[in-house]
Amino acid sequence: MQGNLERVLFDEPAINRRLDELAGQISNDYRHRELTVIAVLNGSLIFMAELLRRIQLPLKLDCLSVVSYDGKAQTSGEVIFKQVTLPDVVDRHALILDDILDSGRTLAAIREKLETAKPRSIRVCVLLSKKKQRARDVVADYVGFEIEDEFVVGYGLDFMERYRNLPYIGVLRKELIVQPG
Ligand code: IMP
Ligand code: MG
Repeated sequence: MQGNLERVLFDEPAINRRLDELAGQISNDYRHRELTVIAVLNGSLIFMAELLRRIQLPLKLDCLSVVSYDGKAQTSGEVIFKQVTLPDVVDRHALILDDILDSGRTLAAIREKLETAKPRSIRVCVLLSKKKQRARDVVADYVGFEIEDEFVVGYGLDFMERYRNLPYIGVLRKELIVQPG
């Protein structure tokens, strides 16, 4: 285990087993539909690659990235899109993939924005979902794992852009997380 971690939450075999299940569920649900996957960078990169290779359906893939100010200090939790144009999802079934559902601000903003592009449907799939009161009401249709409200890294998730490449998901040692203010 990486020395800056307190403990491992999900190791690679556990993640693989869960991804098999999730991919099976998604493949079944979208069997007769025109699926467009919208992956939110950078956090969902590894999850996306591993999940999509398990889905045996014709699909389109698009990515988008956002910058969010998490509002811990004083801001309102604004979400800014880096792309000028939105993915083309007109008449398609959009499935948004993200690493983690925390306050809900990011996914709420992305969902609202995608709705303006007139898809047939929108669903949300996250690798992790924190059990907590959210700032925005977002429902994830597919969840890899529910976790407690702790800061986790690995498998795409970062702390200050580090740890994304860890092949497992772990809890970062609390003393490493410096709270603003
Ligand atoms: P939100 O608070 O739901 O908008 O979460 C936005 C983003 O914060 C996620 O996509 C992650 O990039 C990041 N984030 C939230 N919680 C964690 C965590 O425990 N570890 C790493 N990144 C996190
Ligand atoms: Mg991040």
